[in-house]
Amino acid sequence: GDGTRDDDGGAAGGDDKIVLGFAQVGAESGWRTANTKSIQDSAKAEGIELQFTDAQQKQENQIKSIRGFIQQKVDVIAFSPVVNTGWDPVLKEAKAAGIPVILTDRAVDSQDTSLYVTFIGSDFIVEGQRAADWLLKEYEGKNEQVNIVELQGSPGAAPAIDRKKGFGDAIAANPNFKIIASQTGEFTRAKGKEVMTAFLQSNPDIDVLYAHNDDMALGAIQAIEEAGKKPGTDIKIISIDGVKDAFQAMVDGKINVVVECNPLLGPQLMDLVKKVVAGETVEKRILTEEGVFTQDQAAAALPNRQY
Ligand code: AHR
Repeated sequence: GDGTRDDDGGAAGGDDKIVLGFAQVGAESGWRTANTKSIQDSAKAEGIELQFTDAQQKQENQIKSIRGFIQQKVDVIAFSPVVNTGWDPVLKEAKAAGIPVILTDRAVDSQDTSLYVTFIGSDFIVEGQRAADWLLKEYEGKNEQVNIVELQGSPGAAPAIDRKKGFGDAIAANPNFKIIASQTGEFTRAKGKEVMTAFLQSNPDIDVLYAHNDDMALGAIQAIEEAGKKPGTDIKIISIDGVKDAFQAMVDGKINVVVECNPLLGPQLMDLVKKVVAGETVEKRILTEEGVFTQDQAAAALPNRQY
């Protein structure tokens, strides 16, 4: 289509409100909860009618709800893909129906980039590199083996793949850094705790935990404490996201560094939705800005954290 709205567009109401179908991953983490709230709040603030679905971390659910949005003839579809593969068929259906798709937070591996208008979100490879940068600096000038365990995000999810790669590539040149165990903790506290407990049982000498998100790090902290060790001291902890609980854990000395990943994508997303509906051209890739926080900065930063 030409990017402008059809008169029959929009599922409900009969007014000319923009209708956005948003297929969320799930409610697996504090990050995700903040992301959902940001999207819901800003849709409301902008007068956009939001059709929101929660895929409970299952791609098949997400595909089903995207098909539902296509049938409903929503004006725009946005989603945060559970995994990064297998999207071409449903994206082609959306394209054939003339419904623009905005990738939010996570990318897909589709070769045909005409299947979506834009992708707004973080650079997860850079986040992994930032996590490694802290570690390289922490052990600068020391010539000892550093045993690292890694809690990966959900299997096949872009942030799990990219955070692993960004981190792994950055430490690869230095043979002192050894990833001695690496498994998924599915981005949740419960699984993070469970897998860390197993890591501790089979590896007596863990120096560092690299967790792909805060929830897994927070779960792992419990496991470390239950094993009679001190998180942040006996085992250094690197995490990603920057939720309030992780800042509190830094203040308490239990997490050493947090690489920020910004979930507050709602306002920018609504802006994009309006532009796309108006037929305006938007950038193909919109990067979120984020920082890195260490323990010495945590107390000052905590009161200003928005999520
Ligand atoms: O896609 C972003 C990731 O998904 C967040 O880092 C993690 O907490 C969430 O579950």
